[in-house]
Amino acid sequence: MDPTTRSRRSAPVNRSHRPRRLRTDGVRSLVRETTLSPSDLVAPVFVDATTDERVPIPSMPGHDRVPVSEAVDRVEEVLETGIEAVILFGIPESKNDRGSRAYAEDGVVQRALRQISAETDAYVIADVCLCEYTDHGHCGVLEPDARSDPTLTVRNDDTLELLAETAVSQAKAGADMVAPSSMTDGMVGAIRAGLDEAGFEEVPILSYAVKYESAFYGPFRDAADGAPSFGDRRHYQMDPGNAREALREARLDVEEGADALMVKPALPYLDVLGDVRREFDVPVAAYNVSGEYAMLHAAAEKGWLDLEATAHESLVSIKRAGADLIVTYFAEDVARRL
Ligand code: PBG
Repeated sequence: MDPTTRSRRSAPVNRSHRPRRLRTDGVRSLVRETTLSPSDLVAPVFVDATTDERVPIPSMPGHDRVPVSEAVDRVEEVLETGIEAVILFGIPESKNDRGSRAYAEDGVVQRALRQISAETDAYVIADVCLCEYTDHGHCGVLEPDARSDPTLTVRNDDTLELLAETAVSQAKAGADMVAPSSMTDGMVGAIRAGLDEAGFEEVPILSYAVKYESAFYGPFRDAADGAPSFGDRRHYQMDPGNAREALREARLDVEEGADALMVKPALPYLDVLGDVRREFDVPVAAYNVSGEYAMLHAAAEKGWLDLEATAHESLVSIKRAGADLIVTYFAEDVARRL
């Protein structure tokens, strides 16, 4: 059958359009819209005041809690891959109802920050939250009867001053940027005021503006020992069904002075990430969280997925959806291969 007859009989095919022309090996990389670079990535680092050696985190293969004495070495390992930034989380030596080790001058993160900023060239972001530091595991000060009454939760306004104090103590210890993640209303404004008053006008705030109450944080809560001892975080973290509300959260944070916004988790919320990217002109970060990391590792361990390929594809997709920077446990593995 000659080609003209065939095309007349079946559905018309316009042969001038052949997107496959741009998929050959020679040209594919020239027309690629999104590429990853190590400078897009931020590597999480856990410093632990309760140990003097590295302790592997079982649900996050390849990640350890490191003692303060090894924080500098750990950060140097990250920098060797070409990554320039880390975000620090702390596991304190003790916890109490006000999370006071979060804002102690000799707190675990503050001690690590002093050494890292003195001895490395890393750009260091400090996570600002109380959940790793409170004995109840919630992200702030509780209402008095919260343990017995499930309608009660974190006292928003009493928590603000502790967050500001935490951020200021981190800036004093050498944090280059602070990243509040507690979903306390007004946290960005309170932290901005605290930093300015203490003379840290130049320290930027990366707000976890859009943080969902997600089941994908499971492995992190093991890693940082920050699971709530009762109840959950639905009274302060966002409901997974809400996308318009994300824009409202982001807008409030920008108005309060956020320098950059974060959406978290990443892969299940790429629509929200895209919305935030289109709506605002500040840099947007995405947090590819512990559960997103753990599930690829678990599937790869069973031989069901190719870990390298799925990790790379995940990060490219997060960037394509709108992230300027990505906080990810895959940072070093992916950067090494770029
Ligand atoms: C602290 C904080 C959490 C994460 C980052 N900062 C835990 C939480 O809200 O439970 C989660 C990160 C991850 O799962 O990788 N509030």
